[in-house]
Amino acid sequence: MRVLIIGGSRFLGREITLRLVARGDEVTLVNRGRTERPLPDGLERLVADIDEDGALRAAIDGRTFDAAVHMIAMNGRRAAAVIDVVHDRIGHYVQCGSTGVFMPLKYVPADEGHPVDPPPDEWGGFNGKAASDEAARERCGEHGLPLTILRPTAVIGPGDRLLDYWGGRDPRLLQRILDGEPIILPEGGEGLVQFGDVRDLADAFVLALDRPEKAGEYNISSRYAITHNYLADLLCDALGVPAAVEHMPAEDIIERYEDDGLVSKRGMRFFAAHMCFTVEKARRELDYEPQFTAGQSVGEGVRWMLDEGIIAQR
Ligand SMILES: NC(=O)c1ccc[n+]([C@@H]2O[C@H](COP(=O)([O-])OP(=O)(O)OC[C@H]3O[C@@H](n4cnc5c(N)ncnc54)[C@H](OP(=O)(O)O)[C@@H]3O)[C@@H](O)[C@H]2O)c1
Repeated sequence: MRVLIIGGSRFLGREITLRLVARGDEVTLVNRGRTERPLPDGLERLVADIDEDGALRAAIDGRTFDAAVHMIAMNGRRAAAVIDVVHDRIGHYVQCGSTGVFMPLKYVPADEGHPVDPPPDEWGGFNGKAASDEAARERCGEHGLPLTILRPTAVIGPGDRLLDYWGGRDPRLLQRILDGEPIILPEGGEGLVQFGDVRDLADAFVLALDRPEKAGEYNISSRYAITHNYLADLLCDALGVPAAVEHMPAEDIIERYEDDGLVSKRGMRFFAAHMCFTVEKARRELDYEPQFTAGQSVGEGVRWMLDEGIIAQR
């Protein structure tokens, strides 16, 4: 299969790239050429900034593909700008969305039919992703182009900093655990968070690319959500320290730690709300079977951060 990937070199997009190249697909990446992580031989790399008028069109001039994967549709304009250029060169358009568009949830586990009610911007910040979904539906509808939107939950695993326990990806919060500080969790630690292992999620993209006839919208994740208290256990296990957990109202955590830049209102409100999704539709339609447990994903994510020197035993 000839696949164009917009992005494709950092974390989730890179895992997709690795899988497609390994099985012999013809892969073309378009990005700015700034992200430096090892990529295999045998793929084509084009340089363009998709925010610059005409840059993508010039980069892929004269080429056609079976499918395009847009990994960085962060707003409606970015989704539309890519679709406008690729729609007559591809047979299937796949866009990376986010389950964040459904937050805060009205019911759990949330499915693809959960309402998308734009929350106030300071709550979660996913309005741009919701607008990119909307733009993709509109543009692909106009062009009669099959559209798949895959919506990961919080992506973790080796290759990126872990989502921390206050809704960001600040390694200082993991370092605090190594330095003997307690993990302070919002409320009673019973909130739910649901990770998607980057390797499972990349599998879902490959399955979707192979099934253009199943084009549609899918939530993709691990099999289950975990409580914040269990996340704290997994982090302490992975870091090799005894579990020491305290609980505090979310607003108190914000008040106490916002000035240090360790927590943001947006991150904490996102983290403190339940995140719990079903992936039944992807299982049924795409044969998606997530393999990694939360313990494996957290453990291997922590190991990667230690190996990279992002956090350190002192
Ligand atoms: N992290 C999460 O928990 C989470 C959860 C749900 C959904 N998501 C979604 O996951 C997607 C991102 O995943 P990822 O970062 O792992 O993807 P990726 O495709 O591996 O990396 C992002 C790519 O975008 C390129 N890029 C950035 N700005 C660009 C621009 N203006 N023009 C051209 N290329 C550009 C980067 O390369 P250069 O720097 O070289 O340009 C890089 O290749 C987003 O859609 C996000 O909403 C993430």
